[in-house]
Amino acid sequence: MTQQDHPKLEDTVLRCVAIRPETPTARTYVFEMEQAGGLAFKAGQFLNFTFDIDGTEELRSYSLSSSPVQSKRLAITVKKVEGGRVSNWLFENLKVGAQVRASGANGQFHWGDTDDAPLLLLTAGSGITPAASMMRSFSDTGSTRNVVFVHYASSRGDMIFADEMRLWARTIPNAQIIPLITRPEAYSGWVGPVGRPTVAQLQGLVPDIGRRKIYCCGPEAFMETVEKMLPELQVDPENFVTESFGASADSDVPVPQNTSSTQLSATFSRSGSSVPISTEQTLLSAAQAAGVRVQTSCKKGACGTCRVKIESGSVDIRHDGGISQREMDKGFALACCSYATSDVVIRA
Ligand SMILES: Cc1cc2nc3c(=O)[nH]c(=O)nc-3n(C[C@H](O)[C@H](O)[C@H](O)COP(=O)(O)OP(=O)(O)OC[C@H]3O[C@@H](n4cnc5c(N)ncnc54)[C@H](O)[C@@H]3O)c2cc1C
Ligand code: FES
Repeated sequence: MTQQDHPKLEDTVLRCVAIRPETPTARTYVFEMEQAGGLAFKAGQFLNFTFDIDGTEELRSYSLSSSPVQSKRLAITVKKVEGGRVSNWLFENLKVGAQVRASGANGQFHWGDTDDAPLLLLTAGSGITPAASMMRSFSDTGSTRNVVFVHYASSRGDMIFADEMRLWARTIPNAQIIPLITRPEAYSGWVGPVGRPTVAQLQGLVPDIGRRKIYCCGPEAFMETVEKMLPELQVDPENFVTESFGASADSDVPVPQNTSSTQLSATFSRSGSSVPISTEQTLLSAAQAAGVRVQTSCKKGACGTCRVKIESGSVDIRHDGGISQREMDKGFALACCSYATSDVVIRA
């Protein structure tokens, strides 16, 4: 199946057909499209969902945890975030038969069609979801690709897809699966390796790590820790690909203090507010300064959640795959990674 056969979803209605508990705090939601056909996506990509919660539209991205081979049954696996609006709402409210809207698939966390380098999938917590899609696609296609999958969970009970990992280890020919637990109180009775990642630990678990292409997904601190180890692990940074699930909702977008940059103005046409914006300041930080709510997820230009329409003026969009040329040509920009190059009017 090609992407031409089944183009991207655009605000498409999906119906929930199954819900599976994975751990006490994580559930898989399986969806089917209302219309015929399937979605062509690459293992590792995500969908952007719009949920109507108490009259407010909430946008969130979720990686597909299902295999691209199962193109008609799309699954996401959501871990409850303490205080999180959507993840908790899904747990309490989304039932089989409910409809949601989604767009995508999006994202660059995949190896395309041709690359066949040996892989290391390095994940922690809910970061396992895109790797699960990758492993399921290997299982579905009978892939013989050389892959080591190292996954960190805080305890055995918190390990999402623990049973399926054992199945992958037995059934995928050149796959080695290494689950670890990281919370010392949970070590008792666990026979596998333990502890958070260190250089010595990773060298011991994956002696040929330097020749592998690494796909890393998990909490920001986990990915930063591993990234800092790359020189010692003799991994070329070009071979280290990450997927960020986003900074917390309350993390501030920095506003530059450098007053030598050019001062322009950002006007938000729906709220009618206008604030100064420097050429080193994102549209998102100007929106925050103006008290205008723009929904965000990754804050890195990758997910597309913060898409806004530029009604007039020009912007420099430094995105990471979260917006298409077609959308930019239509006047859309991503607030988290776009910088005004003239006075701008933003529909928000
Ligand atoms: C590309 C991508 C893929 C993703 N894939 C997955 C996936 O497969 N599985 C998954 O579980 N998640 C995934 N996510 C994360 C997901 O999009 C959501 O961010 C996550 O579910 C949390 O959303 P929420 O609405 O529950 O939390 P939010 O309400 O957005 O809150 C997020 C954080 O901010 C804190 N917070 C919120 N409000 C306040 C407040 N008023 N004061 C203090 N703190 C506050 C919360 O406690 C929480 O820590 C992905 C994100 C991206 C960008
Ligand atoms: S928040 Fe993800 S692209 Fe801006």
